[in-house]
Amino acid sequence: MPIAASNNGDLTRTPAATRSVEVQHASKGFAGAQALIDVSLKIASGHIHALVGENGAGKSTLGRIIGGALAPDEGTILVDGKEVSFRHPRDALTRGIALVHQEIMVVPSLSVLDNVFLGTETTTAGWVQLRSLRQRFRTLVGETGFDLDPDVKVSTLGVGEQQKVEILRAIVRNAWLIVMDEPTAALTDEESVRLIAFVRHLRDRGLGFLYITHKLEEALAVAETVTVLKNACHVSTAPAAEEDVDSLVTKMVGRPLSAMFPAKRQRSFSGAPAVLSVSGLTQGRVFQDVSFEIHAGEIVGMAGLVGSGRSEVAQAIFGAGSLDEGTVQLLGEPVRIRSPRHAAKHGIVLVPESRKDQGLIMSASVRANLMLPSMAIRGFCRPIRPSRETVTANSVAKSVDVRMESVEIGVSMLSGGNQQKVAIGKWLVHRPLLLIADQPTRGVDVGARLTIYELLHRLADEGLGVLLISNELEEVMGMADRILVMHRGRMVAELPGHAEENDILNAAFGRYQGGNALS
Ligand SMILES: Nc1ncnc2c1ncn2[C@@H]1O[C@H](COP(=O)(O)OP(=O)(O)O)[C@@H](O)[C@H]1O
Ligand SMILES: [Mg+2]
Repeated sequence: MPIAASNNGDLTRTPAATRSVEVQHASKGFAGAQALIDVSLKIASGHIHALVGENGAGKSTLGRIIGGALAPDEGTILVDGKEVSFRHPRDALTRGIALVHQEIMVVPSLSVLDNVFLGTETTTAGWVQLRSLRQRFRTLVGETGFDLDPDVKVSTLGVGEQQKVEILRAIVRNAWLIVMDEPTAALTDEESVRLIAFVRHLRDRGLGFLYITHKLEEALAVAETVTVLKNACHVSTAPAAEEDVDSLVTKMVGRPLSAMFPAKRQRSFSGAPAVLSVSGLTQGRVFQDVSFEIHAGEIVGMAGLVGSGRSEVAQAIFGAGSLDEGTVQLLGEPVRIRSPRHAAKHGIVLVPESRKDQGLIMSASVRANLMLPSMAIRGFCRPIRPSRETVTANSVAKSVDVRMESVEIGVSMLSGGNQQKVAIGKWLVHRPLLLIADQPTRGVDVGARLTIYELLHRLADEGLGVLLISNELEEVMGMADRILVMHRGRMVAELPGHAEENDILNAAFGRYQGGNALS
């Protein structure tokens, strides 16, 4: 029984006929940019339609037009074949189309129950009605298969749960189409899996989704149909079954993923000084007897399964994790790194995996984020002149190609890719010796990836040693001059940058038989 046919959460209605919304020849310009040019798209209930594209391709603009939050300059919108005009998200909702924003719209201080039914005519009532609301809430929650306490305050819920409250709100208002803009952007992997399962479940019950994302694997896993936008234009709409990551990337950026990596340098680093040399590093059961060198100008990739100890080794070198045994040398001098700040002083910097909680202060400006490491290294008591700071921040932002209006805007306003450029760029103000990049392209869109790859190459060319940790074998193979492989806390192989995928995989699984195995 499709929820799409339900009324105010009463789920005992007849099945709905297929409903549809169609955008025809939509164009939309902003002061600085043409966000959409002549884009047409049709979406039906009972389907998940993914919308993918690079940052700035126009995805959110199209989503907001369909959700009534933005009027197109040109073009028409048809709902069930009839032309409509949306001036406000309310107008779209009247036609059954709800927009679930990335900035959640729920009222944090109210309960889940109040949020779900807020503004529906049924809330203007006494407790008898409240009881019936509870009843309806239970039915709704039962039907959606989603476990949620009606009395808990929304402010105590995580982002994923708040999104679900938003979805329930939409269902109660008879929405048959939900536009979701980057729904998993702020979620952990586990929360994302749960949200996607929920979206699928609702799809099976007749709801339609326009699912906007830059995560291609996610789009392919969740949707039946995938539309690609590029530079404000429609590139293709095709069944997800006929696409794969490579075909989507090619449509989005005009070249396949394999062509994303800058040409490899054919260089030998054996004569170059070792910027980092570690020997016998051991941390309890986490990793044991890890030894390797990184030369000036060299990019060393570290491969291995999740949990093989790669990140922990990096953290220990960076002074963020302890060492029971082993020595660390920088340019041949033994050092004992006591803290990340101490590491930064010695010229070791780490771009962490999870930049939202470790790499950047989301509430601060681009300038403040870029200058923070230098301030920490100089000491906060010796401030840099504000005018100097702005000049420096601007020049670093330019060198790493951060796309933004000004260094004064909040870093939270930037796209994921640009945030990552800031996370890397902030370390370049003080010229480091060694850059440790732990999953630097995780959650970053394909266009920004290329910039990050080029940036790492540029830094290596300038003489930095780079330790690149990545779960993506393709990335390690595409970038590294030399590849170290860890397995269960031990360094099991050291392979040349042109090693075969199979050899790396075998080593990562502890099956390496080749001549260069270390163990
Ligand atoms: N409110 C706005 N004011 C000015 N420019 C905007 C606005 N919204 C979007 N744009 C511009 O329109 C283009 C498309 O943006 P958007 O639809 O947000 O892309 P996407 O969601 O694919 O990243 C970008 O160049 C963006 O800078
Ligand atoms: Mg967007």
